[in-house]
Amino acid sequence: MFLLLACSPAFSADQASKSTFLSGIHKKNQISCADCHGKSLAVNDSETALNKNCVECHGTLEKLASKSKEHINPHNSHLGEVNCTTCHKGHGPSKAYCNYCHSFGMKIPAMGSAEQSNDKKWTQETSQKKSKKEKMKTESADVVVIGAGGAGYVASITAHDAGAKVILLEKMPITGGNSMLAAGGINAAATRFQKARSIQDDPAEMVKETMKGGREKNDPELVKVLAYRSSDAVDFLASLGADMTDLVRSGGVHADRTHRPVGGAAVGPHLVKVYRENAAKRKIDVRVNSEVVKILSDNNGTVTGVQVKGKHSGLYTIKAKAVIDTAGGFAANNELVGFYKPQFKETASSNQPGATGEGVVLAEKIGAKVIDMEQIQIHPTMGGETKVLISETVRGSGAILVNHAGKRFVNELTTRDKASAAIFEQPDKSAFLILGEDIRKSNVQIDGYIVLGLVQESDSIEGLASKMGVPAAALAATVDSYNKAFDAKNDPEFKRQDIPRKIAGPKYYSIWVKPGRHHTMGGVKINTEAQVISTKGTPVVGLYAAGEVTGGVHGWNRLGGNAITDTVVFGRIAGANAAKFIKQHTVKKP
Ligand code: FUM
Repeated sequence: MFLLLACSPAFSADQASKSTFLSGIHKKNQISCADCHGKSLAVNDSETALNKNCVECHGTLEKLASKSKEHINPHNSHLGEVNCTTCHKGHGPSKAYCNYCHSFGMKIPAMGSAEQSNDKKWTQETSQKKSKKEKMKTESADVVVIGAGGAGYVASITAHDAGAKVILLEKMPITGGNSMLAAGGINAAATRFQKARSIQDDPAEMVKETMKGGREKNDPELVKVLAYRSSDAVDFLASLGADMTDLVRSGGVHADRTHRPVGGAAVGPHLVKVYRENAAKRKIDVRVNSEVVKILSDNNGTVTGVQVKGKHSGLYTIKAKAVIDTAGGFAANNELVGFYKPQFKETASSNQPGATGEGVVLAEKIGAKVIDMEQIQIHPTMGGETKVLISETVRGSGAILVNHAGKRFVNELTTRDKASAAIFEQPDKSAFLILGEDIRKSNVQIDGYIVLGLVQESDSIEGLASKMGVPAAALAATVDSYNKAFDAKNDPEFKRQDIPRKIAGPKYYSIWVKPGRHHTMGGVKINTEAQVISTKGTPVVGLYAAGEVTGGVHGWNRLGGNAITDTVVFGRIAGANAAKFIKQHTVKKP
């Protein structure tokens, strides 16, 4: 969908030159509107051509990153290949997208000033003009997928490979959703990667542990599907080109079941890169800046498509026989979290800024049943006062949690609800992760936390204790006793079952952590075919859902590593079933 940019008369070249935004800077450098927007001045919602022109003039992200001497390099981010216009705005204040989750205080050209009125006026006039003049456009597809996070990509790729014409819509300026930030890995039982390491595991155990972790409030049929299709899910990822060869343990399970890239790299950025490449290879129509505002249905309640609000194109309709809702959870939505769990309103969220729950509301409006909305997960370890999640795999690799008295207070590999509750009982409601050199080396993400300034280090436990402000003798005794538990393969005090490494030098590290909002277990009710279930208890015909927008898979507490499994297992089911459904309902022309 394209919109003709009104460089004049609503926003003239003269106004552009007065603007404090990039349009003004460009104008002052004799760069015309057409130089950026092309002769037609047309901009599609994904801003494809505009960004191509940015790259032609300024270079690729990789090239820009190689020129920078900054410690933290915004052009070399875990967000991967993103549009330049995600951060750099021609007609509005530029803002580094990284700052939505981090607090780098990163400088960016044309951050804007009080003189923003010209550009604001331009935006308002342009959109008003369009809404008065133009008739709403209509497109068509076989399957529309709402939300380009992990579940959305998996559903789109699967539906495409089953022969469907797919449009994948993302309201944010970048794709990836919360999957992009996933640190840990994907849980899967009895995989070839586990077998290669002689790790004993079984889907039946995964069912039992997922149910126990979810306080037996999960939908047992969905859990069975999750566990018994998890090994296939890992094979599917490998077939797309993902590396899931490394294994670590997450909380609440008896085996190393969390699959991740070699060296312990964060799973999310790797997977999203693979998804983006696979979608591009298949020429799947992926649109950013494209928010679904309504799921359309006929008089019988059968889904007929969606209404979309594009950043530039405004409102338009896509007719489709099947819609897959993969719009994610709502842990970044303070209001909604506050409504369902007032006590969590003020806690920091580890989520991407778009995790605001519209996908649940959209489905509810056409009759979907919504469950467990008040079940909001608090992750025990977010970095101090930041929004940076310190992965559970740090504990899985051997780190311990100590309080301000330098003492352990919980089995670090218990479930998240219990670990978070234990931290909330400590003075200051915070704790420290303590680790040694081998643990750091086993988990490359820790190097990232060091770069972000979240880690303290010392050559001795006493030196570390002094930096942390905890009693040195107590911390030394705690570490000594933990290392003895490693030797004895027995942790009498906290019954931790798996101690893969000692805490040993030459360097010792600590990370100050606080619990924060991480996952919303509730959402749209689905069945084992990923069909959305209505308040009447029957499927909403043509509507499928997968991932964090759904409820029931995780019960009242999700196990670490099960979210990616959820997105892949149910994303595949939703994609395959949507494609099957449209085939069954397509009348062949004689
Ligand atoms: O702590 C983590 O690595 C998070 C993993 C997850 O939420 O599954």
